[in-house]
Amino acid sequence: MHTVRLGIIGMGNIGKHHADYLLGHKVSRAELVAVTGNTATLPEKYQSLHVFRDGAALIQSGAVDAVIIATPHYQHPALGIAAFAAGRHVLVEKPIAAHKADAERLISARKKSPHLVFGGMFQLRAEPRYQAIRRLLQTELGEIVRVNWINTDWFRTEAYYTSSAWRATWRGEGGGVLLNQALHNLDTLQWLCGQPRSVRGFCQLGRFHEIEVEDNVTAYLEWANGATGSFISSTGEAPGTNRLEIAGTRGKLVLENDRLVFTRNETDMLEFSRTATQGFVKPAATAQEIPFENAKLPHAILTQNFVNAILDGEPLIAPGEEGLHSLELANALVWSSLRGETIRLPMDGAGWEARLNQLIAESKVVKEVRATGADDFAGSFKK
Ligand SMILES: NC(=O)c1ccc[n+]([C@@H]2O[C@H](COP(=O)([O-])OP(=O)(O)OC[C@H]3O[C@@H](n4cnc5c(N)ncnc54)[C@H](O)[C@@H]3O)[C@@H](O)[C@H]2O)c1
Repeated sequence: MHTVRLGIIGMGNIGKHHADYLLGHKVSRAELVAVTGNTATLPEKYQSLHVFRDGAALIQSGAVDAVIIATPHYQHPALGIAAFAAGRHVLVEKPIAAHKADAERLISARKKSPHLVFGGMFQLRAEPRYQAIRRLLQTELGEIVRVNWINTDWFRTEAYYTSSAWRATWRGEGGGVLLNQALHNLDTLQWLCGQPRSVRGFCQLGRFHEIEVEDNVTAYLEWANGATGSFISSTGEAPGTNRLEIAGTRGKLVLENDRLVFTRNETDMLEFSRTATQGFVKPAATAQEIPFENAKLPHAILTQNFVNAILDGEPLIAPGEEGLHSLELANALVWSSLRGETIRLPMDGAGWEARLNQLIAESKVVKEVRATGADDFAGSFKK
């Protein structure tokens, strides 16, 4: 195979974004050949492609080697499982499922076809700023002792939530800001620092919007080495903040307002504390700004990597299986908040599935969907 024939399942906001950079030849050795949708409503620029009425038909058609799944979350596992069964490679949008038990079903299906490539669309991993932080964590920061991420610049309006039926409902989406917007940051957090050992979430459901799921969250995290952290997110706060601070024994990293600063301790702080003979001294430190660029088309970078993995065996930047971690964090934080207690990870996926089904059964939401005005969807991509 020299070129990967791609199909996109789900031609909403993000599906069209994937289609546009593929049709714009931003990914080499890939050809977008098929999409799902209705020929009567699909924009003219996609009409020359094979158009299938739904994902199952596209998967079974034999027209594609690989699929990008860009439907609402709950459909991701069923479509992924069907694609693997039909011998298609899968690049699934985040989150890889709406809840952990479903994600595990998808991951098990992939295990039966290990020759097929399974990627997750976690494009923040392609951002040079986080790659620089990852390098510093691996080489210079020492042991992580504290992580704080204030991640409240995911502002969404009431019009966003009423724009489609599935959004911000237990039945259609399975969660709120943690499962949708901040999931990118939860993935990045665990990619940088590893998965916490336990979490305690404080989630406010519908604090700022007429929705039943969480739109304002403060969480406490703890790692196996004793490192502690907080993660704060919201879709109701403007202007909002995006500030990541990681302290290690050999310094501190701060990323905010497109600036990354590493303050390096000349001596490991614990070593300094043990050996200093005076009481009020601290290690000498120097601050250094770490320059970085913005990734151009980060989604296209992950799709190129997916295509290279199929054709050349290139290692994936974001293997689909790793999508379990951010999903588990998002689920566990909500469940912890509902239970009023700390949850140790790995969490009980079947237990959360049962609780989620109960929330769905008890839901009183009757959603009135209203079309939004012309929006710049790309403006929603945050770093
Ligand atoms: N990586 C990112 O930056 C990013 C950005 C936005 C959305 N997303 C993710 O992408 C997914 C879709 O989000 P969206 O905002 O594009 O939603 P959307 O509502 O705009 O689009 C979803 C589309 O899927 C279609 N669909 C539903 N079930 C289908 C099926 N079985 N077969 C074919 N099509 C089907 C719907 O008709 C709709 O066109 C979500 O999981 C979301 O979290 C990721």
